[in-house]
Amino acid sequence: MKTKILEINPKKIDLAKIKIAAEEIKKGNLVAFPTETVYGLGADALNEKAVAKIFQAKGRPFNDPLIAHIADIKELYRLSKQVPPIALKLAKAFWPGPLTLVLKKSELVSGIVTADLDTVAVRMPADNIALSLIRETKTPIAAPSANLFGKTSPTTAQHVVDDLGGKIEMIIDGGKTKVGVESTVLDVTVEPVRVLRAGGISVEKLKEVIGQVKMSKELEEGFRSPGMLNSHYSPQAKLILVEKKGDAQVEEIRMLASKYIVQGLKVGIMAKEENQNKYDRFEVKVIGKGTELEICAANLFAILRNFDKEGFEIIIAEGLKEHDLGLAIMERLRKAAAPK
Ligand code: TXA
Ligand code: MG
Repeated sequence: MKTKILEINPKKIDLAKIKIAAEEIKKGNLVAFPTETVYGLGADALNEKAVAKIFQAKGRPFNDPLIAHIADIKELYRLSKQVPPIALKLAKAFWPGPLTLVLKKSELVSGIVTADLDTVAVRMPADNIALSLIRETKTPIAAPSANLFGKTSPTTAQHVVDDLGGKIEMIIDGGKTKVGVESTVLDVTVEPVRVLRAGGISVEKLKEVIGQVKMSKELEEGFRSPGMLNSHYSPQAKLILVEKKGDAQVEEIRMLASKYIVQGLKVGIMAKEENQNKYDRFEVKVIGKGTELEICAANLFAILRNFDKEGFEIIIAEGLKEHDLGLAIMERLRKAAAPK
């Protein structure tokens, strides 16, 4: 299959092009499109055959449920007949935006979308291309991140081409995504609500709106037990995350880098800007200032993919502070560093 690439300027949306993409989705085909977080691989959420193609293209197991993307809050009430007041409060505060709500599903939603769970994940993305596309298709769009299963999520159309070129009908190129990490997934069927995946809306921001928020067990324990992890977000290179702080972090990274270089391996370091100069004998890519976590999040996946493109075999990453978007970044780095 030849994958068509449709360039759309997010600041000046060409509705004729959106209509072409919407037609593909209505026909039951796959279209990758930008959201504010990462690129999504979209299909008509109400068409089982179309949704099945998503799993096939990504190599994703059917037991991993998808997010349904909507452009109008009314759609939430079609996908779920039990929308608790707290969900509406959250939707009003954070939609459109990088927050996914998990609610009891309605009969409209097929088990192929939800991995046969009785819940459905719903979000309204804060991206004009995504919103126009959903509006134009007049159906919720099921979309996981548009990467091969287990790999680093895509933040540019080129990343999608690299993983899924030749396997899907169309990719909308709307430039680089803003947030760079996926949405926060929040289960609102339980009290207090529970964060299942840290993401673009920080726990601090959630707490400002609804007070109490629980972390899923995995997040609470900070994935300290690597044996239990399923690896995810993985670059091709082996990723080593060094969570020590300050000088001890720099020292350990230098030591590890030297060790692997002696073994003849190509080693790259992903460092905070303030530490860049401390690795002058080594190859370094800067994720951003340690205090500018939004910038770090926006750069994270592209840096991992760039290391791969340049043939690095080992990536050693500095851990970041675990507040605000730092939590989402660290969750991803820990999974990416988990044994395959
Ligand atoms: O930012 C995002 O969320 C991006 C963009 C494209 O919207 N999408 C994304 O989708 O990251 P995906 O499929 O890569 O991740 C969705 C996550 C998975 O961890 C899945 O297990 C969880 O949401 N999820 C989906 N439905 C669920 C449900 N009913 N209950 C619990 N978790 C669910
Ligand atoms: Mg994903």
